[in-house]
Amino acid sequence: MSAFTSKVILITGAASGFGQAIANAFAKKGASLSLVDKDEENLNKVTEQCKKAGASKVLAVVADLRVEDNIVRAMNETIETFDRLDVLVNNAGVFRMGSVEQASIQSFDFIFHLNVKAHFHFTKLAVPHLEQTKGTIINVSSVAGERRLPNCILYGMSKAALNYFTKTSALGLAGKGIRVNAVLPSACKTSIMSCPGALSPGLTPDDFFRKTSFQVPLGGVLVEKQDVVDAILFLASNSARTITGTCLAVDRGHALVGSGT
Ligand SMILES: NC(=O)c1ccc[n+]([C@@H]2O[C@H](COP(=O)([O-])OP(=O)(O)OC[C@H]3O[C@@H](n4cnc5c(N)ncnc54)[C@H](O)[C@@H]3O)[C@@H](O)[C@H]2O)c1
Repeated sequence: MSAFTSKVILITGAASGFGQAIANAFAKKGASLSLVDKDEENLNKVTEQCKKAGASKVLAVVADLRVEDNIVRAMNETIETFDRLDVLVNNAGVFRMGSVEQASIQSFDFIFHLNVKAHFHFTKLAVPHLEQTKGTIINVSSVAGERRLPNCILYGMSKAALNYFTKTSALGLAGKGIRVNAVLPSACKTSIMSCPGALSPGLTPDDFFRKTSFQVPLGGVLVEKQDVVDAILFLASNSARTITGTCLAVDRGHALVGSGT
């Protein structure tokens, strides 16, 4: 039995990338999982993986989180199924390259709806349940929220907002015994940059990684999914019981270098 065996973990964006890895890691610890994503096919695959990996129980909620009613439904189904919530991982996110001149107003809404508003909404709905369990929230932000990246302006702005939200909600919710932290990964090979429209025309994810790989203090630019999973397992655990309002960079020192591509 692990410390997570009796815990209920809600993970958004659980159908691929970091979300899938986080779900599998908590499944191996025997936790109960509420997995939320808009991609039904992959979500079903991850659900089966998690059952096989040892999750106590798995609920899959297919939901586009840019639709407010879907967020309410996801939280309601989670509480109806498990009657508690211990950990909320606000992970779902989208990426778009673009400078002030290139990025469109539509992109602004596309990015902020998911990367900021959905996390705010989930957090609001989770508070009464996390207060009961003295639970915790972990936001999956990005090194882009700390650096100045002129060609990723909207994405960087959304993650800077998420970092502000992390620290400020940590302060606001501390009195209820709820801890709020964020992890800030550097680039990782997931599907986020392969989505149509994510990168500037003609640029591949490998080109992008190469362009951003200079000046990374520990060398390279990429992190592994497991690096991010380890940070999240720590922040969710009792070992982190004194830690709140932290934006933990998992980035080879990337955030220390102020600006880039
Ligand atoms: N991969 C990286 O280089 C990197 C670096 C730093 C931070 N991040 C952050 O990590 C988080 C996870 O991204 P990832 O890299 O695993 O990408 P990913 O594309 O592999 O996973 C994102 C998941 O979110 C889901 N999703 C997208 N839009 C949705 C919507 N409207 N409603 C519901 N689900 C939706 C997708 O279906 C997908 O399963 C994001 O917040 C991202 O900003 C990623």
